[in-house]
Amino acid sequence: MATNRTFTMIKPDAVEKGHIGGILNMITEAGFRIVAMKLTQLTKADAEAFYAVHNERPFFGELVEFMTRGPIVAAILEKDNAVEDFRTLIGATNPEQAAEGTIRKKYATSVGENAVHGSDSDENAAIEGAFHFAGREQF
Ligand code: CMP
Repeated sequence: MATNRTFTMIKPDAVEKGHIGGILNMITEAGFRIVAMKLTQLTKADAEAFYAVHNERPFFGELVEFMTRGPIVAAILEKDNAVEDFRTLIGATNPEQAAEGTIRKKYATSVGENAVHGSDSDENAAIEGAFHFAGREQF
């Protein structure tokens, strides 16, 4: 079933560099409504669970280390066709391949430290949103 919500994180690299405001501005200018949001920090167990699908990848340890090193902004976003439109807005995982005008083109520095996360399917958007937010924190 298609939904109109996706889940995002502004990752530690972008928070450290003071890009929360710039990234949220790009998100809202693109027509997304913020329906849940918080500044939080993942524990090692949180990151290992959130990225469990990648646990066989060679970069898994580096990914967990990176995602736990400082605060992130977690948010649920609403818009028609949210998952696909948000992935277009953030751009390719590798910022060298990200299109002009995308969040990663502007703010990401490498394939690992790529500024933002966006869910890759409606199913994962629901799982990832529920990982971070109780029902009463979603508006
Ligand atoms: P994201 O797509 O949000 O979720 C998986 C993350 O794994 C991805 O962002 C990157 O941060 C990270 N990642 C993917 N490929 C690599 C890689 N080759 N080296 C390091 N990190 C990676």
